[in-house]
Amino acid sequence: MSNLAINGGDKLRKTEFFKWPHYDEREIKYTEEVIRSGVWFSGMRGADPGTKTEEFEKKFAAYHDAKYGVACANGTVAIEIALRAAGIGDGDEVIIPALTFIATLSAVLQVNGIPIIVDTIYDTQCIDPDEIEKAITDKTRAIIIVHYGGFACDMDRIMEIAKKYNLVVIEDSAHAHGAVYKGTKVGAIGDMGTFSFQESKNMTAGEGGIITTNDPDLAEKCIQLRSCGRLEGESWYKHYIFPVNYRLAEILSAVLIAQLERLDEQTKKKNENTNYLAEKFKDVDGINPVPGDGDTDVNGYYLYLLQYDKDKFSGISRDKFVEVLNAEGIPCHIGYPWPLTKNPMFQKKEGSEEVPYTFPYRGGKIAIKDMPCPVSEKICNETVIIPHQVLLSPQSDMDDIVSAILKIQENVSELL
Ligand SMILES: Cc1ncc(COP(=O)(O)O)c(C=O)c1O
Repeated sequence: MSNLAINGGDKLRKTEFFKWPHYDEREIKYTEEVIRSGVWFSGMRGADPGTKTEEFEKKFAAYHDAKYGVACANGTVAIEIALRAAGIGDGDEVIIPALTFIATLSAVLQVNGIPIIVDTIYDTQCIDPDEIEKAITDKTRAIIIVHYGGFACDMDRIMEIAKKYNLVVIEDSAHAHGAVYKGTKVGAIGDMGTFSFQESKNMTAGEGGIITTNDPDLAEKCIQLRSCGRLEGESWYKHYIFPVNYRLAEILSAVLIAQLERLDEQTKKKNENTNYLAEKFKDVDGINPVPGDGDTDVNGYYLYLLQYDKDKFSGISRDKFVEVLNAEGIPCHIGYPWPLTKNPMFQKKEGSEEVPYTFPYRGGKIAIKDMPCPVSEKICNETVIIPHQVLLSPQSDMDDIVSAILKIQENVSELL
């Protein structure tokens, strides 16, 4: 008889963990207010006084220690707007980490910039400042860092490098709502921060994004860019700069106001549960929470990142382990299957000698596919990810995660 659920045995966890997306009466009340008001669109430049969008921008920016918030359609265009606001364009090199969602890279391509991909640090999974410094040339204009999974990047080093080489810093904080680095929330440390409110994120309206900044000029540029390049008080049909509609709808802003009201409490809960799990994992050979570097005061925990050592599971591959753990009723996934460089769009097409996405670099040429990132590759092969909503369940539910892993270890012979 088999014990493991994947082989027909009893599932260790039979009930669902915390369900995501989460809502209560507040989402319903605030969206009803929008519907009944008849104001479904937030205005010419995106956030007229009295709109839900204006209210959300003010509240989110204040919560994230920033003076200004500019809401927009999603986290991808938030990065694009930030790049355009900073004047990044044709041929400008922008340094980004190898371990991130494609949006961090595609936003650079959207402005005709050159994405220069650098490696990450094993113990934080965040961009490596030493690699940033090595990649800088006289064409480098900006760095987009990603607070990966909810850990904060080494912002002291990154800001020091940016100052030394006069570079713009954009904090892609799509994984890190609520995260705090040395006393300051992420998104308020670099020149601009960007956030996503897509459905899987720490707070969500299904879609949505925001740019945070402490710089009034950048905020003004972002406001203009988010709504067809218009200027305050000018005609609807006068467009002064890059003219695309990136606005956020009022109903989504209403949902986000409600979601923000729970963010602090939810972040606390996730940090409590991960502290509890870290103690429990001390007794599990072969699974270690990614340790971080000690400078993240509060982790945003969009992803709970675990390092998997297959040697402690009789050589069972990480992918198989994830399949078996899911079968036991513990939601988990592998995250990004590869660093950005390995995506199909960057590889040579069959029968063609042309290498797509090859750019001029240091007097020669470089293709995205050849930008080295061995640490990120290792991370992509070894990480097991538990999504944030699982960590919003009661502490007693955390025991099921550990018990399921121990069950797999005890019955690993069934998988050989
Ligand atoms: C690191 C990172 N940046 C940017 C984005 C883009 O956000 P959106 O999906 O809202 O466009 C995501 C979304 O998953 C992300 O993970």
